[in-house]
Amino acid sequence: MGKYTQIFQGTAFTSDSPKKLSILKDYLFCVNADGMIEKIVAPKQADYQLLLDTYKGQENFHRLAEGQYLLPGFVDLHVHAPQWAQSGTAQDLPLYDWLNEYTFPLEAKYSDLTFAKKVYEDLVDTLLSNGTTTALYFATVHKEASILLAEICAQKGQRGLVGKVVMDDAEQNPSYYRDQDTKTALINTEEFILAVKELAQTVKQGVYPVVTPRFIPSCTDEALKGLGELALKYDTHIQSHCSESDWAHHYVQERFHKHDAFALNDFGLLTDKSVMAHCNFLDDNDASLFARTGTAIAHCPLSNAYFANSVLPLSRFMAKGIDIGLGTDISAGATPSLYDNVKQAVVSSRMLEDGVDTALPAEERGVPNSRITINEAFYLATAGGGDSLNLPVGQIQENYTWDVQIIDTKVSTAKLPIFDDNEDLYDVFQKLIYNVRPENIREVWVQGEKVHSR
Ligand code: GUN
Ligand code: FE
Repeated sequence: MGKYTQIFQGTAFTSDSPKKLSILKDYLFCVNADGMIEKIVAPKQADYQLLLDTYKGQENFHRLAEGQYLLPGFVDLHVHAPQWAQSGTAQDLPLYDWLNEYTFPLEAKYSDLTFAKKVYEDLVDTLLSNGTTTALYFATVHKEASILLAEICAQKGQRGLVGKVVMDDAEQNPSYYRDQDTKTALINTEEFILAVKELAQTVKQGVYPVVTPRFIPSCTDEALKGLGELALKYDTHIQSHCSESDWAHHYVQERFHKHDAFALNDFGLLTDKSVMAHCNFLDDNDASLFARTGTAIAHCPLSNAYFANSVLPLSRFMAKGIDIGLGTDISAGATPSLYDNVKQAVVSSRMLEDGVDTALPAEERGVPNSRITINEAFYLATAGGGDSLNLPVGQIQENYTWDVQIIDTKVSTAKLPIFDDNEDLYDVFQKLIYNVRPENIREVWVQGEKVHSR
């Protein structure tokens, strides 16, 4: 018996920084009882052979097969768990109508815990099988169903950060779907935080309560202030939507005569544990405030194509040093896959750079220097997400969690186009990111535990 709980031998792809991808060919990855990567050993290192001799043939020794590769588990920074039940519908409506005609009536149904359990169990399974090991969730206004989502993450082994959504403004929200009043919204939020913190004490991979004003238009000033105070009191993560669309951005300007970023900051809602979805309409002052406060952006490129009337100036915000990760934004983004969003992040950035209106001359059509590379998009889905949450996740590195996907490029129903056994590994990586389907994701591990296999 050795000192490690699991040892893996194989080739891994992991981001060191937005532009730098590390390829760890045939390394050993040593995982301890806490589910942390304690040691990573290159083939040329002295103890490589010693470790192999000690562990080979044991049950906890895993040699990846030919054609299999390790990737970090993905970090999805923006998921509306209840909206999984409508994923793919009503994508043609504008944001305001989509919320009022489809989304709020659906979310109201989660007062029914039987319905909530059915959808949430399916969603957590689906996200895990798509390689998502950490997810930042909006639940609904219902305290009980929100706690249930945290319990389901705990039980299925996913690292879930969960928010009970606050929507207390009686003028802005329908009577059938809102908090009863401001005081109740804050009491329920506090009880929710305490319940999830209690649950977390027994959960290896962690579950976390998140203070979650839906967006400024759904909350009163008093609720926003109270939520900022609760986040401070309990040192929680915070999430909301920020400057998403023309309509949402202008609503806040009319109400506060400032942009979302400064309004949220006034209520104590921009901290280094804050993750704001979208942020397409941030100006340079807003972006500087994000960088200064350590607030992160959840970039949701597929959702944006439908509901944000714009493309996020991603490379400009990355250059400012803002933490940024990727989100599916289920169901405004109609896919449970961050692979789809990695690809779309690249596509959207290219279209922003080149522009789209051929009536304009090429040099006036786009926004120069906007494109991002596949390395940068992969970084956002992994290390960028981990940094955004201030958690040691998203990288295959010593002192990070063992959260990984084992990708099999040779699955008979989903073979990747690799025809040369000695193909350049960076080409393998690119093919993998562009072509992986759920069938190729053989195993998913979170905090040293296997949570999915096929
Ligand atoms: N703004 C307020 N609520 C929502 C939501 O559920 N999805 C999106 N995309 N934007 C929102
Ligand atoms: Fe959203």
